[in-house]
Formats: sequence, structure tokens, C-alpha cells
Amino acid sequence: MVLIRRAPYSGRLNLFIYTQKMKILTLAIIVPTPLLLWLRHLERKWHLLVISLVLLLAVLVLGLSLPSPDAIRINKVKTRTSVYVSPKFVLEPGSVADKYFYNIHFPRGHIAMKYFNAEVIDEEGNPIPLHETYLHHWVIERYYAQASYVEPELSGFEDIKDPDFKIVRNSGLCQNNVLGQYYGLGSETRKTDTHVPDPFGIEIGNPAEIPAGYEERWMLNVHAIDTRGAEDRLGCTECRCDLYNVTKDGWGQPLRPGYTGGLHCCYDGTKCSVKQGYNGVKRSLYLRYTVKWVDWSDSIVPVKIYIFDVTDRTDHSGGPSLQHDCRNEYNVEPCSVVDLVNDQCFDNQRAMITMPTGGYIVYGVAHQHTGGRGSTLYGEDGRVLCSSVPIYGQSEEVGDEAGYIVGMSTCYPHPGSVKIKDGETLVVGSNYSSSRPHIGVMGLFYILVAEHLPKSSLLSLDSSL
Ligand SMILES: *[C@@H]1O[C@H](CO)[C@@H](O)[C@H](O)[C@H]1NC(C)=O
Ligand SMILES: *[C@@H]1O[C@H](CO)[C@@H](O)[C@H](O)[C@H]1NC(C)=O
Repeated sequence: MVLIRRAPYSGRLNLFIYTQKMKILTLAIIVPTPLLLWLRHLERKWHLLVISLVLLLAVLVLGLSLPSPDAIRINKVKTRTSVYVSPKFVLEPGSVADKYFYNIHFPRGHIAMKYFNAEVIDEEGNPIPLHETYLHHWVIERYYAQASYVEPELSGFEDIKDPDFKIVRNSGLCQNNVLGQYYGLGSETRKTDTHVPDPFGIEIGNPAEIPAGYEERWMLNVHAIDTRGAEDRLGCTECRCDLYNVTKDGWGQPLRPGYTGGLHCCYDGTKCSVKQGYNGVKRSLYLRYTVKWVDWSDSIVPVKIYIFDVTDRTDHSGGPSLQHDCRNEYNVEPCSVVDLVNDQCFDNQRAMITMPTGGYIVYGVAHQHTGGRGSTLYGEDGRVLCSSVPIYGQSEEVGDEAGYIVGMSTCYPHPGSVKIKDGETLVVGSNYSSSRPHIGVMGLFYILVAEHLPKSSLLSLDSSL
């Protein structure tokens, strides 16, 4: 079936070709305005004839420019959506859950991931605001497991040492399995766009890549802090060791001297100080997550996931065999009184990261904690590749909680416009307000990189359909 429609207020004729499989090809034909004006002055009966001629021309152009009818099967494949709920975690005022859920519900098969979002809900499915349950982070990690393998409960992802269990990390570049996740965000989850633009996608479940006898599985790590009745909400969310009365980390090792806060003080089962006399019920919570994907096809251009860490202290003198040293967290020292008076209180951290192979950025987003003022990724020559700034909440409402980062702005460069060269050294910068100290903050930059562009740039694909 072929439909033709003039887009309102423009000289564009949209030609929709519905193939048998209901895969839709959209062609945008730009009709010069004089022709449209002329068309308007014609009598009605001639309209059909002119449109038919345009259509015939379009079909001819299509027929000539495409190698085979098969090549028309572009892109507009059906996007599927699945909504899942994680196993439960139980929190009471002050308590912390840092759970690793293995072999979670996830789309199966050879597919391209297009979108991932999540939120904390209660047993009735009500969304929980950040000022009650602070979502420090969640991450989704990929691994292969022998079909019969049962993951040890309560075990950290990187702690599992078993030949039946193989972590499949992203493209890098932190050492070992640090920051190897496919997706992961924190308090900003609700208002951060994660969609991968057409015709790109994150390829997973390719049977040719999964080792014989293994299957692809997914791990969800949720780290949440119940700050109802907290003596110091920000202190609890920044995991200040004194508020948690913690002197040893989650493995029972003494904290290193000078360590005042961060993930080593708010591990699973720890408790942040709550106002005396505060009574709040223990409750069961869940992470509800939404995945969108499409079946894999040759028309999808795969993208690689890179996560950069502003604390990465790679020694760049070492040549190609660089050992990265990503520390995840850092502290922001308070500024001087002079700077405070002059409103000049910013803490800027930078890290250099050399990309073994380059490509085209199709998406970018940063991750920061409260106090964050934005993060920028630069090329070797100082050009800005992507900037991402926090959106702070303004009210008590879910998704708009005052004082919290409820979203991060994203970059969607026009495909082909932002290129990283092979071997290029990038700079990631993370900017925080230092008008007060911050502990255990993060400065991550997540980008999706396509190593090549879609072959056919002839066809304009209308993703609004
Ligand atoms: C803090 O921990 C110590 C033992 O590590 C304990 O003796 C003390 O009572 C705790 N303080 C509070 C306020 O919970
Ligand atoms: C840090 O953020 C502040 C406030 O948005 C801005 O004025 C300043 O220029 C930024 N600094 C850098 C190095 O980006």
C-alpha cells in the first residue's frame, strides 16, 4: 500500500510505502515552493495527475538508486517494550540496600537495545520519591553463564570467580571490570533520556558470540538508601562514614586513613543516623525497569558503549599498554571565603582517556551527584564533543524532588557530525559547586560510538512514525 501526504506547513510530501511485513519506509520528497503554489492554482481534477507523476518519479528514483528490493527493508522495524519488576529489597528509616540480582528478567534473543529506564516503587506499584528512598545507583551488567550455573546469592558481581561465569563488559576503558555496565544511573534516572536513535542500537544476544554451553544473562545491582527521618539527608546520601558509624568496609577491612565517606561506608545492611524518636515502617521496594528493543537486522548500526571516569589516573607515559586506574569516587573540598564571597566556588576535575579506536558519537550523558554543575567531554584539540548538565528538582513531587539531581541533559549529535579519531586522547571534565564540601561524588561520562555510519544516506527516515 502506498500513501502520500503533504506535511502541513511545509513543502514536503511524505511518501509512505507499507510493505507486506508492515515495515514502513518513509521518503521525504522536498517539493519546491513554486511548484506547490502552481499546484494550488490548478483545478482540483489535475491534482491527482500531478501527484501521480511525482509518485511515479519517486518510484523510478527508488528503483534506480537501490540495488535490490531487499534493500528497501530499512529501519522502521517494530520497537518492543517490556516492563519488569526486580526482586524485592526491604528498607527501614536509615537502612541501606546494596543488592545484586542475578539472571534477572530481560529480553532474550538477538536484538538491539534502544532504551532503558527504571524507578523505585512500593508493593502497590507507587513510585517512591528520592527524599524517602535515595537511589544511589543501579547498574545492568551482562555475563555468560553455563546453562546449569546458579549464581551465589549476595555475592558482588566482580567477586564471582568461577569458570562457569564470564563477565561481558562494555568497551571500556577502566581496569578489570570496573564500570563495565551496559546501563546505569542514579537519582537522575527518571528524567534522563536513554533512547538510542535510529538506525543505531546496542547489539546483544548474538548467538555467534555466546560460547558453546553458555547463555547470556543479566545482573542488576541496586543501591538504595532510606533517608526517612534522617538526621542529615545529604550526609546519608553522600555516605559519610561518621553518620553510618562505620570504621570497616564491607569486607571487614579497616577504612584507609582519611577516608571520610563513599561507598565503603554505606554497603548493604549499614544504617545511617536517624532522628531520635522517628518512627517509620519497614517496607518492601522494587526496581521497575523498562527495556525497549528491536529484533536484530543488518540495517541496524551497532554502537559501542564507553564509560569514562574523571578519577581515572592513567599514566599516559606508558605507551599503548596503559593501566587505567578508575576510582569511581572523589571528594570536593570547600572553597575559600574569598571565593565564596566572589561566587567563584567550583571544583573542576579532569582526566585524559585515549581511545584505541574512534568513531561517531551518537549519544552522550554524564553522571554526577548533588552539587554537580555539569560535565563536558573534549577532543584532543579542545573541541566540545558533548556537554551534559544536571536538572535539579524543585518540589516534593516524584521526579522533581528539590535538592536532588532528577535528570541529566543528553547529547544526540547529528550522525556523522561528532567524530573521534583512532587513538585520540579525550579529556573529560567534571564541574561541582564547592561552596560546601561534598563526599563520595562521581564524574562519569557515558557515550555510544558507531564505528561506521549507515550505508545509505539517500533516504530520510522519519522516526516520528
Ligand atoms: C558505633 O559503633 C560502635 C562499635 O563499632 C558501638 O560501640 C557504638 O555504640 C556505635 N554507636 C552508635 C551511635 O550506634
Ligand atoms: C562550572 O560551572 C559554573 C556554573 O555553571 C560555570 O560558571 C563555570 O564556568 C564552569 N567551569 C568549567 C570549567 O566548566
